[in-house]
Amino acid sequence: MSRIVLGVSGGIAAYKACEVLRRLREAGHDITVVPTENALRFVGETTFAALSGRPVATDVFTGASGIPHVRLGREADLVLVVPATADLIARQAAGRADDLLTNVLLTATCPVLLCPAMHTEMWQHPATRSNVETLRGRGVVVLDPASGRLAGADSGVGRLPEPAEITETAQTLLDADVAGRASGHDLAGLAVVVSAGGTREAVDPVRFVGNSSSGRMGAEIARAAALRGARVTLVAAHLAVPPPSSVEVRRVSTTADLAVAMTELATDADVVVMAAAPADFTPRTTATAKLKKSGDAGMTLELVQTPDVLMSLTRSRHAGQTIVGFAAETLPDEQSLARAGHAKLMRKGADLLVVNDVSDHKVFGMPDNRVLILDAAGVVDRVAASKAVVAHRILDAVLTHRATA
Ligand code: CTP
Repeated sequence: MSRIVLGVSGGIAAYKACEVLRRLREAGHDITVVPTENALRFVGETTFAALSGRPVATDVFTGASGIPHVRLGREADLVLVVPATADLIARQAAGRADDLLTNVLLTATCPVLLCPAMHTEMWQHPATRSNVETLRGRGVVVLDPASGRLAGADSGVGRLPEPAEITETAQTLLDADVAGRASGHDLAGLAVVVSAGGTREAVDPVRFVGNSSSGRMGAEIARAAALRGARVTLVAAHLAVPPPSSVEVRRVSTTADLAVAMTELATDADVVVMAAAPADFTPRTTATAKLKKSGDAGMTLELVQTPDVLMSLTRSRHAGQTIVGFAAETLPDEQSLARAGHAKLMRKGADLLVVNDVSDHKVFGMPDNRVLILDAAGVVDRVAASKAVVAHRILDAVLTHRATA
């Protein structure tokens, strides 16, 4: 359980803070809500108190003996502001302390995540741009707002990211290493294409050949890259987790579909990550009607190999492009994993290869992963952590590779 301060500033998206609060509570965190005076014009104190299960901290002077303006920020594991208005961002950038929330932000030593929401003009105004840069430079993580419907009839950039996405991101930032990477926007300007999930090859209209990939690792890489400022497209085969709402998603089903999408998107990509688990075989023919049993007879399915997408991407790689492959192996010790991984990296021509042991159902669909990251010279990193942390370490390896290539 972590201690999270949920700051809410005065914008129409304040009502969505309630959903973020509910989700974080369900995940078992201890939340104190700190609304600004204007936030309380949008959502009542009673709602925040009921959803958080504790009193709402509203001003610097109430309970002054407990010095909440210092204590809350100091003791928090994460301070999250949903929504962060242009005014709140400006006050924080200027280092002001004119209400309880800005006091908390000035005293916090933990990761801080701001989720801005405002009209497009306000987000794009040079004053806001410069305030956001200032805050990012100080280690604050500022989520880029989404595009879509804003208040009233307007639409454009400035919409609060989805509560589910904010909650996922907030929880990854409880890891201070992740927070440090996220604030720097060190992937800004890069186009990243990530594939994720298992492909399915139809046997007939109701059956398919598939695999156990949940797509979680690829989804985390896409989320992490977007958080670090990259323009990300997720090529999603069949996922058991929702794709991050911070990235563009292109849905595919079969290995052939995946090959088409990846080939097209790789043309403009600086970084390509093949985290998908393509089915290696496809039925020679697909029945157009459901196959029926005939008595006790078994059935033989003739399979042919699918194209190797990663290999064809590395063969047509353009200058300056970094291509990352994955290898799921059932080899328990590091030495044999590294050896198998190295052979696969060389055979497929990838710049980096992430290899893991998938025996004993330790990986598929699970929140954690244990991987080796290799380049042609050998192991560059080994990580046993949540898939979110593994995702960031893979991106670190990508940046190191690009800096030295
Ligand atoms: N891959 C691919 N196209 C395929 C199969 C795999 O692009 N038809 C990619 C995966 O996305 C992954 C990498 O190749 O990045 C390695 O996948 P893996 O299944 O471990 O490799 P295989 O080629 O199937 O090797 P093996 O001989 O071990 O089955």
